[in-house]
Amino acid sequence: MHDLKSYIDSLPENEKFVLSEPVNLDFCPTSLVLELEAQKRFPVVVIERSNGFDVPVVTNLFADRDRIARMVGAKPGGFGQAWSRALANLAPAVMTDRAPVHEVVMLANEVDAGQLPISRHFEADAGRYIGSGILICKDPDTGVRNLSFQRMQLKGPNRFGASLHSRGHIWDHLLRCEARGKNMEVAVVIGCHPAIYIAAAAKVAMETDELEVAGALMREPVKLVKCKTIDIEVPADAEYVIEGEILAGVHEDEGPYGEYTGYSTHRSTRNVFIVKAITHKRKPIFLDIIPGYSAEHLLLSRCTREAHVTHRLREMVPTLRAVSYPKTGVHFHAYMSFKKTAEGQARQALMMLMGLDSYVKLAVAVDDDIDVFNEDEVLWALATRFQADTDMFVVPKVFCNRLDPSSVEGMSAKVAIDATKPPNFEGERTRQTAESVAWARSVISRQLR
Ligand SMILES: Cc1cc2nc3c(=O)[nH]c(=O)nc-3n(C[C@H](O)[C@H](O)[C@H](O)COP(=O)(O)O)c2cc1C
Repeated sequence: MHDLKSYIDSLPENEKFVLSEPVNLDFCPTSLVLELEAQKRFPVVVIERSNGFDVPVVTNLFADRDRIARMVGAKPGGFGQAWSRALANLAPAVMTDRAPVHEVVMLANEVDAGQLPISRHFEADAGRYIGSGILICKDPDTGVRNLSFQRMQLKGPNRFGASLHSRGHIWDHLLRCEARGKNMEVAVVIGCHPAIYIAAAAKVAMETDELEVAGALMREPVKLVKCKTIDIEVPADAEYVIEGEILAGVHEDEGPYGEYTGYSTHRSTRNVFIVKAITHKRKPIFLDIIPGYSAEHLLLSRCTREAHVTHRLREMVPTLRAVSYPKTGVHFHAYMSFKKTAEGQARQALMMLMGLDSYVKLAVAVDDDIDVFNEDEVLWALATRFQADTDMFVVPKVFCNRLDPSSVEGMSAKVAIDATKPPNFEGERTRQTAESVAWARSVISRQLR
């Protein structure tokens, strides 16, 4: 399986919500996905026809944790292991001559990005936005490829506004291009094998090509083809590629946009992307990722953050059980559970967790009897095992994500909470007998079939 279409075809029917009536791409897909989510339903949404566009649009692909695990061949709950295995077995990409993404090529004056089925998502958004584009660029010194997402506001037939506010590797590349007075070449990939999306959302070392991580997750090298107008290679089986460059030193208004924090924000690096070519399959499908406080927008980042932080923390804290980024914390809260073997360990682990991820503002450590994926349990541990005068510390003025509306000049205070049992803890958890639980489950399944 190489491409998005074969992945979607492989999904069981009950995991898809297919709409054959024409859908208005302004706001409607977002409302549909958020309403489904409110009902705790997370199907892949397939919009076969939309007003004004003859290309199917797919969204909500990454809204379900178990589906993300299956995308990389893992069982539910097994994503973290698959991630660690992939990092240890990188699969370099290979070049190919067969390039479905080049079946249609539009250059120069033929380019009109407005013809793409790009949605408007939230009422306050400044316009139509691509939030599902994987931006592929190269380190200007080493040539190592980098994959990331940056929101892109449609501004004209060959012009987008972009925000690189995560200030990740792509931002660092751009600063070095700008120091040389050079624009930065970027290919924007829309729609490809989901493992490439997962690798693009992740933080890995700058010297690691995220396409090698994607290949390892797919257990098959990603097949690449050279772009038509820039020196960048892209997945040959992609649905669409927009080739172009981010202009050095040019800034203009961009936003507001409905962000993962749940707020519409003007905060932006105000960059400008100029399109040189658009290429696509003869019969492409367009992938959208519903932005804002949606399950898929948050989950795509949360899964790889959890896996990455767990992988790194376990090197130093071998008794670590799990790390969770609860949805309610929008990447700013992280919970970790571990088996404490000495006092002070929680504080050490908390400092590492906050150091590994600049987004984290609140880090909580709990004992290994607490399920960190169940927020009720974490809050219960906080209520019953934590005293604020001795079990927490605050680190003021640390670099953070600027989209936090409460941050000040790109800095935020970090709170670490040790909610592990203190020495001589007297509380004993209430328990049920295994027999009574088994009996209750069988009664319920008989009566509430
Ligand atoms: C769906 C999605 C959309 C995102 N949009 C943006 C964005 O608009 N701007 C931004 O700076 N980061 C955005 N991010 C976060 C970065 O893409 C992400 O942190 C990435 O790992 C950065 O990669 P890099 O450090 O390798 O450049 C988004 C992440 C996801 C999953």
